[in-house]
Formats: sequence, C-alpha cells, structure tokens
Amino acid sequence: MTRVLLTGGAGYIGSHTAVALIERGHEVVILDNFANSERDVPARLERLTGRANIPVIEADIRDTGAVSAALAAHPVEAVIHFAALKAVGESEADPLLYYDMNIIGTIRLLQAMQAQNVRRIVFSSSATVYGQPDSSPIPEDAPTRVQNIYGRTKLVMEDLISDLARTGKLQAAANLRYFNPVGAHPSAMIGETPRGVPNNLMPYVTQVATGERPHLNVFGNDYDTPDGTGVRDYIHVVDLARAHALALEHICANDVSLTVNLGTGTGISVLELVRAFERATGREIPLNIAPRRPGDVASYYANPDMAARVFGWQAALDVNDMCRDSWAWQARRAGINDI
Ligand code: NAD
Ligand code: WQD
Repeated sequence: MTRVLLTGGAGYIGSHTAVALIERGHEVVILDNFANSERDVPARLERLTGRANIPVIEADIRDTGAVSAALAAHPVEAVIHFAALKAVGESEADPLLYYDMNIIGTIRLLQAMQAQNVRRIVFSSSATVYGQPDSSPIPEDAPTRVQNIYGRTKLVMEDLISDLARTGKLQAAANLRYFNPVGAHPSAMIGETPRGVPNNLMPYVTQVATGERPHLNVFGNDYDTPDGTGVRDYIHVVDLARAHALALEHICANDVSLTVNLGTGTGISVLELVRAFERATGREIPLNIAPRRPGDVASYYANPDMAARVFGWQAALDVNDMCRDSWAWQARRAGINDI
C-alpha cells in the first residue's frame, strides 16, 4: 500500500486515477484548487469507491507553504502531479499564464516535496511533446518537437523532473506521455467537464449527441490519411488511470525513473470515431466539413510496447467502450434517460 498525493486529483484524469489507486488498496490525498473541476468530485469518489473521508486540500500548487503543510499533515510516499492548464489555444494567447501555472507551479511543488522529503513522483506529460512526428507508431526515443506553449511547458516540466531524478534529488520518477484520453468511468459518476465550447473531439461529439451543439465541425478532410481526416490514438481514461497505478507501483518498488508512452497503439480517424460513436449510442452526429485547425498534425499514434514490457500495462478497452462510456456520462449530465 502506498499513500499518494494527487495534485489536480479532482480533475478528469486525476479523479479516475484516484478510483484505480483505491481499488488497488492505496490511499489517496487530493490537492486541487478546483479551477477546472467540480467541488463535489471528492464526495462522488467516496460514493463510488466506498472509501470514507478521502482527505481533500483546497490549495494552489504554486503555494509552496500550503503544499508543504498538506504534505506535513498527510504524510505520503509519492505524488502524482496532474494539476496544470491544458488548452493549447489558451497557451498561445497567454504564454505567461502557462509558464506560471505549469512550470512555476511544478517548481513550487517540487520544492514543497523536497522540504517534506517526498522523493517519488509520477507526472502527467503528453504526446504533444512529439509535435509533428517523422512516422507513427511513435517510440519514446523519437525526437521531441514542441509546437506550442502548452507543449513547451510539458517538455520543461519533464526535464525538471528528469534532472532531479538524475541528480538524486528524486528517488523515482515517471513521465507519462498520454495520447488522447477519452471516456469516463462506467458508473457515469465521474467524467470530463469541459468549460465552454469543448476543444477536444470526444466532448464535442457528445455535446452534439445531446443536442447542445448542432453539428460537429470536422477540421479538414484532405489530410494524407486513409479517409482524409486526422488520425489519433484515443485511450480510455479507465485504462489510463490503471496505468498510473502500475507505473507508481513499479517506480516505488524499484526506485527507477522512466519516460513512457500511454496509448493503445491504434490510430483512429475523426470519421471512424464518429461512426463508432453512432454505432455505440444510436445517436446521429451531423457533420460539417470545416477548414483544418491551425497547428493540427495529420496523424499520430503510440508505440505502447515500453509500458507493457516495463510494468505490464496495455490498454484493455476499445473505441466502442470509449464511445459508450463518454456518452453515458454526458447523457447523465444532460438528463437524458435513453441510455
Ligand atoms: P483537468 O483540468 O480535468 O484536471 C486538472 C486539475 O488540476 C483540475 O481539477 C484543476 O482544478 C486542477 N488545477 C489546475 N491548476 C491548478 C493549480 N495551480 N493548483 C491546484 N490545482 C490546479 O485536466 P485533465 O484532463 O485531468 O489533465 C490532467 C493532466 O494531464 C494535466 O497535466 C494535463 O496537461 C495532462 N494531459 C491531459 C490530456 C487530456 O487530453 N486531457 C492529455 C495529455 C496530458
Ligand atoms: C482530435 C482530432 C482534430 C475537434 C489535443 C492537444 C494535446 C492533448 C490532447 C493535452 C484532430 C479533430 C477536433 C473538433 C475535429 N492534450 N477535431 N473537430 O488535437 O490530438 O490533442 O488534446 O495534452 O496536447 O493538442 O485532440 O481531441 O482536439 O482532436 O475535427 O471539434 O479531432 O482536428 O484531428 P488533439 P483533439
């Protein structure tokens, strides 16, 4: 059993990881400023897991004193660091906000960890660090090519953590490069809650399905891909959450540091995802072919072999599961009962 602090633990991936950790017998402490999550998420986690009194600290990761006090009050062996801003467009509009939240925030967190002698960390990185890859599937030793401010912050945060691991300040560290997380817990009690117009494909599709939006804008159908639309490696958030638990257990047991992809290894186009969603839910998704979105890459998907080899993880859920569970979550929120 490991006690672990989850920064951003009330958010989309953090909340699912809390469930995975509790189910595997670990103890979690949540630290979140609720800037992008709902305040009743911890209560929902308690109902979902049957675990009472999950400690919750409302704090900003940039507040070293508050994080230090949280670690002193709730001693942990490791931190999983989810808390960050994550919108590519917003990062280009306000770079300093992203440097501050993500990079300064991570430095302040690492300082608080050092002050309390917490020396193991799992970090939410992103496949966005690969930018435009030479080819897919992408292995971890592919070159990193930052294409936007958000991606730059992820790469800098990875480097900070790797430096501290290399110099022995951290005892164990995992930089986890997520591909495209989608889906929700099958209970439909937790999921993704984008604010305003969703940037990402699956939340947008689910909002078309509820009738909140009239159609999906398909950003380009003239890419060099089998059907002309963008190809991505969508990964179910429940699989992703389990990967965090396995990665944490691996680095804690072996005191090692690594950088690893988390994807399924399968590329799916926008049109394939829409068709899968229609099949899984019986809802029609009207489409509008729109211009390409600036900065988008035609195609990328993971080589997920390292995660399988090193800590025995591979994705178990498929695109049908992703669509069904995304829809169950969104339909429940929209008060739709035909699921
Ligand atoms: P999310 O916004 O749902 O969760 C982030 C959580 O962190 C939220 O609960 C938010 O309130 C909290 N938070 C933000 N800034 C904070 C701060 N300064 N102090 C304390 N709490 C703060 O996002 P998510 O999708 O769960 O993403 C989690 C992590 O995974 C992020 O680091 C993100 O960059 C990374 N990531 C996400 C995706 C994706 O597509 N969702 C892909 C790759 C990587
Ligand atoms: C997927 C595909 C779009 C919306 C982004 C970030 C990345 C990572 C995950 C955090 C693309 C197309 C989308 C729409 C569309 N986040 N699309 N209509 O761009 O792969 O990655 O989220 O780390 O950093 O860049 O994901 O879901 O936005 O797009 O046609 O309304 O769907 O063009 O081909 P992306 P996405």
